[in-house]
Amino acid sequence: MSKKRTSVHGQWSSRMIFILAATGSAVGLGNIWKFPYMAGENGGGAFVLVYLVCIALIGVPIMMAEVLLGRRGRQSPINTMTVLAKDADASPNWHLLGWVGVVSGFLIMSFYSVIAGWALAYVLEAVSGSFNGFTGKSSADAFVGHISNPGVTTFWHTLFSIMTAVVVAKGVRSGLEKAVRILMPTLFALLILLLGYAINTGYFGQGLEFLFNADFSKLSREGVLSALGHAFFTLSLGMGAIMVYGSYMPGKSSIATTTFTIAAMDTLVALVAGMAIFPIVFANGLEPGAGPGLVFISLPIAFGQMPGGLLFGTLFFVLLTFAAWTSAISIIEPAVAFLVENRGMGRKTATGVVVGLAWVLGLLTVMSFGGWGFEFEFAGAKKTDGIFDILDIATTNFLLPLGGLAIALFAGWVMASGDTADELGLGEQTGGYRLWRVLVRFVAPAGVILFFLHSLGVW
Ligand code: PHE
Repeated sequence: MSKKRTSVHGQWSSRMIFILAATGSAVGLGNIWKFPYMAGENGGGAFVLVYLVCIALIGVPIMMAEVLLGRRGRQSPINTMTVLAKDADASPNWHLLGWVGVVSGFLIMSFYSVIAGWALAYVLEAVSGSFNGFTGKSSADAFVGHISNPGVTTFWHTLFSIMTAVVVAKGVRSGLEKAVRILMPTLFALLILLLGYAINTGYFGQGLEFLFNADFSKLSREGVLSALGHAFFTLSLGMGAIMVYGSYMPGKSSIATTTFTIAAMDTLVALVAGMAIFPIVFANGLEPGAGPGLVFISLPIAFGQMPGGLLFGTLFFVLLTFAAWTSAISIIEPAVAFLVENRGMGRKTATGVVVGLAWVLGLLTVMSFGGWGFEFEFAGAKKTDGIFDILDIATTNFLLPLGGLAIALFAGWVMASGDTADELGLGEQTGGYRLWRVLVRFVAPAGVILFFLHSLGVW
């Protein structure tokens, strides 16, 4: 049965733009800030290998499922799930999946914009030459001084929230699409420039060795599990961001090839970010396992010493900000689309409401670093106790995998195979379709369920 709906919010002008927008969503703080420090903390190569396997076997099939649900429903995730459940004669409760996504979106946006605010602040620090003469201690002091000052971080959090709101308020074509058209090519260019710099440090080989030489004795079980959670976070899966972007996708484009392209680009950016960062870390005798401070503490030391550091330092933090910006717009889009559809709100009002709420919630993260139980140590701190950690774990290690599991089950078990094959544009008997179906029905759910069992301490 072929159901063709259209979205009231508009449509991307081409398949290429969809790829750019979804890559913009996927590539963010997760790739440039989180991935390198997670790889650093978990011993490098072995973690990277597990992460790649999770992307290929769990991330890609779930991403295809999420895009297909979005494109078939053509509405905000909550309403998409309502209509698709009806089409499949399934329980209307499936729309709760959309609600879980909206809640995850608020929680993620709340801390995302605080961290993105740090990046924004560091652009200013970099251009003004503050990194000159940084040592390990002075860089760590500067970073801790910055993040523990709630007045300052609230200012940058507010600025980043406004930047995100301005884009989303303008809508799919003149907001989201225009932003990714400009920001994504810039981001790729900046990344290549930084990679070029890293190649010339003389430590490129050591960086590669660290990232790609798999020593499994350095990888704990926790490391394996965090690789899986991170696969969801980095691909923007499980909360409706990719679903809502799929709902704006032109009807004829192939979901399989676009999804491969997006996942490949996301992975490539994470790896290139690692290849750009670790040689700089090693060239300056810094610690790869420095944790969340890796890019904010280690790199400024290097930027403060290297020739052209003012330029490269500024470029790096601009890159980080742009990457975060194109992700943040996708984090709030599901909730905004829902308010427009169901509350009859104008897009501007809806954006204001969503960003406003996330902004208030973000103050918790601000305070989490601003004195409410945050402990920080340079080069040793793995666990920090605070609201930020709770939000990060609740979303990355719980809500996103849960949403992803529900998406996989819905697309694999609830929807008729004729319908999913039709939307994917693949014949039901083709090898590609069968492979996807096995992955989405068995492999991906089993992976996520094992992950939960372990988190609950059962396995
Ligand atoms: N994928 C983004 C990143 O890597 C974060 C994100 C998560 C965006 C969930 C949308 C939804 O930074």
